Amino acid sequence: MPNEAKLEAERLRREIERHEHLYYVLDQPEVSDAEYDALLQRLREIEAAHPELGTPDSPTQRVGGRPREGFVKVRHSSPMLSLDNALNEGELRDFDRRVRQGLGDEPYAYVAELKMDGLSMAVHYSNGVFDRALTRGDGTVGEDVTENARTIRSLPLRIKTDLPELEIRGEVVMNRDAFFALNAEREQAGEPQFANPRNAAAGSIRVLDPSITAARRLAYYPYFALVDGETPFARHSETLRELKRLGFRTPDWRECVSIEEVLAFCTRFEEQREKLPYEIDGVVIKLDRIDQWKRLGRTAKAPRWAIAYKYAAWQAETEVENIGVQVGRTGALTPVAHLRDVKVGGVTVSRATLHNEDEIARLGLQIGDSVLIERSGDVIPKVVRVTAEGANRRPFTMPSRCPVCGGRVVREEGEAATRCVNTDCPAQLKQSVLHFASRGVMDIDGLGDKLVDQLVDKGVVRSVADLYENLDVPALAALERGIPAANGNGALRKAVRVGEKNATKIMENIAATRDQPLPRVLTALGIRFVGGRTAQLLADHFGSVDRIAQASVEELQAAEEVGPKVAESIAAFFAEPRNRELVERLRAAGLQFEQKIVKKAGGPLTGLTFVLTGTLPTLTREEATRRIEAAGGKVSGSVSKKTSFVVAGEEAGSKLEKAKSLGVPVLDEAGLLEKLPH
Ligand code: IVH
Repeated sequence: MPNEAKLEAERLRREIERHEHLYYVLDQPEVSDAEYDALLQRLREIEAAHPELGTPDSPTQRVGGRPREGFVKVRHSSPMLSLDNALNEGELRDFDRRVRQGLGDEPYAYVAELKMDGLSMAVHYSNGVFDRALTRGDGTVGEDVTENARTIRSLPLRIKTDLPELEIRGEVVMNRDAFFALNAEREQAGEPQFANPRNAAAGSIRVLDPSITAARRLAYYPYFALVDGETPFARHSETLRELKRLGFRTPDWRECVSIEEVLAFCTRFEEQREKLPYEIDGVVIKLDRIDQWKRLGRTAKAPRWAIAYKYAAWQAETEVENIGVQVGRTGALTPVAHLRDVKVGGVTVSRATLHNEDEIARLGLQIGDSVLIERSGDVIPKVVRVTAEGANRRPFTMPSRCPVCGGRVVREEGEAATRCVNTDCPAQLKQSVLHFASRGVMDIDGLGDKLVDQLVDKGVVRSVADLYENLDVPALAALERGIPAANGNGALRKAVRVGEKNATKIMENIAATRDQPLPRVLTALGIRFVGGRTAQLLADHFGSVDRIAQASVEELQAAEEVGPKVAESIAAFFAEPRNRELVERLRAAGLQFEQKIVKKAGGPLTGLTFVLTGTLPTLTREEATRRIEAAGGKVSGSVSKKTSFVVAGEEAGSKLEKAKSLGVPVLDEAGLLEKLPH
């Protein structure tokens, strides 16, 4: 029997690897997500039933092991060098000239490949099995991030090679979509956003908890292979072809017989730069023949056979005409630089965020100064540095009163942000309503900022609960009346008009929010640090708003990814009487306060029966049952031969005995949690 299981496990691994490659490397999936999940689940079951069949390169190991204490520093097999830069065509031609001189009359060709904007990482395979990943670190010593790298789906855990030892070097990147999704999530949660995909990738690979890396959707693009510190091929183009054959993604590349062809490649990709799914900051040009690498050698810090042609950063110089202050949903006052319009990477920029007072001090910025600004992706531009002090410069001071409501503002010790403490501040209320209505939260189409401004300014909406209690079609349609045109030409009047038809639609959209599931409702409450993902995990763990509201700070931390900071914020939210009142009003409005158990056919536990016995360390029996059922499994009261697993806690009794006598596999709570979807 174990032999059969072994064969099946191996067959499943091959098949899963093939589907991962099709999906994550080639973008050509052949099966649905559910079919893929089912294969993975079957493999998990076999490995659970026959632990001796588990292997470190099994696709089941991608979910991420336990958080670690810190990173271990490890010396690289040979230094990870960086490259000299060419900042324009002239410098690239200079490089070509140096190469030609160095090689005498010998013919040569280049490989031009995209310079991926991420962080470099070396990965190691022993007998074809992935066993170590190191960040670049200082080039000589890197940090061991093996467990985190294992979660990257485009990194094969096993490769077909006869080489006993193979090191591969490349770039870890976060593609744009994943980056925007992550930032949107962080914004919802009131957490600081990442400035660009590179920082996000670096921040995601260097976290202690691999399950966070797993959730961050990173990708790996290798561009080097090393055996004993040497490239095992005659040409770099061969390395790239071989990497592809081994199942990696490689950066787009092309062989170029002349520097003209290299320049054409650089221009072609610079034009496409904004449309690529990931960020690039230039093109790396390498000599194709490896024997020529050796002939040219290297300087102290960079090889002579390669160069990085850097695209101009999306930077521009302009003047700070003023510094305004915006009030956010949490009451934080954010200084914003009002700029003289300037074009950066094809987009006109007129505002840049300054984050907080400390940032302004760090930049030494005053109103009237000239500054260098930088734009990255669709993120709000930032000020890099002051380039010239303005003749009539004047310092910015944080207002001592809220610019919107005139209320008191405070800056707590140890906090960078200054906040308006008036919970009735219309600015905060407007942001809360917009957050509540936004896409991915309650999805109230039509409830945009102009309408929200009016609803709040006219006192129709004083709390999000008023959307359900105080609003109807006539109220919305009436908004237009009595508003004077802004400047006599009716522009404002037109902008805020809500026709009856629209009003009806908006009311329908509001009514439809009663079907939004619990995680959305939790996100909509606007609890600090609770964005969509945390809300989902809280809902999975607790199953209802009430259980979350009643949980202690310790109990809250039993939910996945909820640390002390998040737990305290949740507890503080529900301790506040006005928030409790809001919750009651939303309950009365008919929103979903309980997690509906959607038994997913094709959930990871489909077809499995569990029996619970004894006291589990963190999960109540009710929660465990709910979560098993939500994942498609069944919970039964008695053990039989058909039982797939017995989950045993402390003081487990006769059921455990019976499981042992029937040979039913026994799990502890951690074992159960591993089987549940994250
Ligand atoms: S080759 C010895 N190729 O750019 C040469 N680097 O300034 C080492 N990078 O540290 C690098 N894409 O992090 C190479 N296709 C590519 C690259 C690439 C991105 C990064 C890498 C390196 C830096 C060089």
